[in-house]
Amino acid sequence: MSKPIRYRLYLIGYPIRHSLSPHIMNYIFRRNGIDALYELYEVESNLKQVIKIFRDTGVYGFNVTIPYKERIMEYLDGLSRDALEIGAVNTVQNKEGELIGYNTDWLGVYKPITRFGGNNFDQALIIGAGGAAKAAIYALRDIVKTIYIANRTFSRAKQLSLRFKRYFQDITPLKLGSKGVEDVASKVDIVINATPIGMKEGEKPIPTESLNNDTIVFDMIYKPLHTELLKRAEEKGLKTIDGLWMLIYQAVEAVKIWFDISADVDEIRRFIVEEVL
Ligand SMILES: NC(=O)c1ccc[n+]([C@@H]2O[C@H](COP(=O)([O-])OP(=O)(O)OC[C@H]3O[C@@H](n4cnc5c(N)ncnc54)[C@H](OP(=O)(O)O)[C@@H]3O)[C@@H](O)[C@H]2O)c1
Repeated sequence: MSKPIRYRLYLIGYPIRHSLSPHIMNYIFRRNGIDALYELYEVESNLKQVIKIFRDTGVYGFNVTIPYKERIMEYLDGLSRDALEIGAVNTVQNKEGELIGYNTDWLGVYKPITRFGGNNFDQALIIGAGGAAKAAIYALRDIVKTIYIANRTFSRAKQLSLRFKRYFQDITPLKLGSKGVEDVASKVDIVINATPIGMKEGEKPIPTESLNNDTIVFDMIYKPLHTELLKRAEEKGLKTIDGLWMLIYQAVEAVKIWFDISADVDEIRRFIVEEVL
């Protein structure tokens, strides 16, 4: 009979059937000799009940994705400073029976930008005002002076600009689709797409014609890896960062919290691109 697995970890969310996270996590565990298994746990409703099951069965840790990153917070026993400031949790650690919430999404934005772009920028445009946008804005707090937030629902962009105001010299909410967004896109150093616009072929969140030559374009979407936004930016010779970088960096940071190890981001990316995608 085979030995039971020592550590069990999950991703909760809905829908998550096509998630790449188990591939990334189980690859890290294999490569580092950790006797752990990471599985999907689709939660359509009754989050409270699932958390009770996790507590009762002594889950080692779990990740949280759409639509629970904010709602999960009320079921946890503690929050890291980052999670509290961002207002969202994507990683939970079971610390001797206490469930502690963390946010590693912001590092999924911060690490690739500082690695491929630098750490001192004047202006950035964030498209979207959901959980991922919040993490992105937080990630830019020490490396960008001025932020614009463009969202379909203007009131949410406004809410975020109030929430994160203290971190920036200036922060301006915009209505996605307005002329103002196009003007801003032509002058910023970084554009980050934190909406699902681009998952369907041919669609992009903003017109790309006006993007200037030095802009770094970051798309959080990883399916497809080359979104229309990134394709157009590449055609213009701009530096681009795809959502797979974010996915891998946030995963590596989650594993660091659970097992105190540093996994090799580039090796994981090679594995995913060559053997999974
Ligand atoms: N690569 C990664 O590791 C990673 C991590 C996290 C998230 N993501 C991706 O980032 C995106 C946002 O995730 P989230 O967690 O922030 O989701 P969320 O909290 O549900 O927010 C979604 C955002 O997208 C906007 N939006 C949705 N559909 C839209 C449409 N058809 N037209 C215009 N705007 C639309 C929403 O605008 P309203 O406010 O107007 O509804 C909102 O600002 C998703 O595509 C997700 O897969 C990637």
